[in-house]
Formats: sequence, structure tokens, C-alpha cells
Amino acid sequence: MNDIEFAPAGPEHGALLTLEHVTKAFPGKDGSVLEILHDTSLAIDRSELVAIVGPSGSGKSTLLSLLGTLDMPTSGILRYDGGDVNAMGERQRSVLRAARIGFVFQQFHLTATVSALENVMTGLQYTTLPRGERRQRAAEALEQVGLGNRLHHRPAQLSGGEQQRVAIARALAKRPDIIFADEPTGALDCETGHTIVDLLLTAADSGASLVMVTHDQTIAARFPRRLHIQDGLVTELDKPNQAPSDEGLSAKG
Ligand SMILES: Nc1ncnc2c1ncn2[C@@H]1O[C@H](COP(=O)(O)OP(=O)(O)OP(=O)(O)O)[C@@H](O)[C@H]1O
Ligand SMILES: [Mg+2]
Repeated sequence: MNDIEFAPAGPEHGALLTLEHVTKAFPGKDGSVLEILHDTSLAIDRSELVAIVGPSGSGKSTLLSLLGTLDMPTSGILRYDGGDVNAMGERQRSVLRAARIGFVFQQFHLTATVSALENVMTGLQYTTLPRGERRQRAAEALEQVGLGNRLHHRPAQLSGGEQQRVAIARALAKRPDIIFADEPTGALDCETGHTIVDLLLTAADSGASLVMVTHDQTIAARFPRRLHIQDGLVTELDKPNQAPSDEGLSAKG
């Protein structure tokens, strides 16, 4: 895993991620083709906070998987930090993800048999960091999400909101360029959900981009940029609460 180097993202190199004329299609019934994304071009900047909304089945998770390099476009180009992801092999993409991309999902995806600390350390297992440093970073990330006093609890000994915090700590521990979150509040009550969003927005404050899929309009409204997907088309929704010319739009100061 150590033979492929990715230079750390710098603020001066343009967008972190771009889709250029990307389509995504799946085989439908009876040989038909189901086009989920139609000729989509968009860019995600460094430190940008983006919500993705749209009806169930519209392709939100599909779009997130493409942006996160978990799945590949049917046609078109995905660039990560200027590099053509299509030209990478699966192994190189998995190294990229392991080193630089954080994922948070609705169902937490924690390992039931190990502690919060070990779950977070798992997120660092493909780095070259020595075990002591992985442990240190994992403990710091858990501290950052308010679980400094739950390091040795297993998932079943934590509430749903706490389990999602562990998943967020696992994403943060690698100090990612970008965090992708697919309905991270979907399994939580409304209040806990907003606390989780607070945490993600604050965590992204350290410079990571955040792209979050949500069904919840009140959560989407907290993001300076919102993308809507429906019938294969991705559109930008109006930016809430701020004039388009406001330079503070990114909420990053
Ligand atoms: N691997 C696949 N093979 C075939 N069809 C797929 C595949 N993955 C997704 N689809 C189809 O693509 C469409 C979009 O799915 P996707 O999961 O992206 O929707 P979504 O907007 O995330 O929905 P939800 O809000 O319910 O999570 C759906 O009709 C789905 O059935
Ligand atoms: Mg989905």
C-alpha cells in the first residue's frame, strides 16, 4: 500500500473533485438501460460543504459513490485533485480512499466485537503510521467527537448517536480531504441527527470538504450549497439565507 504516493491537497490547485460529462447507467429489466445520471458536470472545492437532496431512488447514493470513487462512471471523467480517476486501477483507488477520503453511512458500519478505539484505528490500518500513533490519533478523534470517556466501549454499549460519532471519528482520524456522508442521520431521532450534523460541519471546519446526502430539508438548509438530483439531472438549489454575491457563502470564513 505504500508505493503509491498522493501529494497532500493544496489550496491553490483548483477544485478537489470534478465530474466532467459523467453518466451512470445500470442494466434495467429485459435488456433496457436505466440512466441514473445524465451528462453531469460539477466541481467540489476544497473545504466546501455540500448537501445532496432528491427523491428516493433518484440516484443520491449513486452520485456519492461516484464522487467517492467507490463506483465508476459509465462514461465521462472523474478527477480527484486534478488526476483522472478512471485511469487508476481498483487498487490505486482503494489506496486513495484509504489515505484521503472519509465515509459515514446511515448504519454506522462498526465492528461489533471491538471497542470504539479499535473501530477508529481500523480506519487507519492502511496508512504507514505506527500502531502507537494510530492509537493516539484514534483517541484524539474520539475526544473531538465527545467520546473521550467511551474509548473502550463496544458498539452495543453505545447509543445510536454515539455509534455514529465513532463512525465520524473513524473518518476524521485519517484527516481526510473530504468526508462523504450518506444519510448519516437517517437512523437517529431529529435532535440527535442535528447534533451529528453539527459535529460533521464543525469537523469539516479543519479544512475537509463535506458532501452529505439527506432527506431532511432542515438539515439541507444548513449547507451553503445544495445539489438536487431528479430524473438523472443534477441542479444547484438556491443558496439559503445569503445573497449569491456574499463572499462568506462557504461558511468557512
Ligand atoms: N448496482 C445497481 N444495479 C442496478 N440498479 C441500481 C444499482 N444501484 C442503484 N441502482 C438503481 O439506481 C437508482 C438510484 O439508486 P440510489 O440508491 O442512488 O438512490 P437514492 O437516491 O440514494 O435513494 P434513497 O433515497 O432511497 O437512498 C435506483 O432505481 C436503484 O434501483
Ligand atoms: Mg440512498
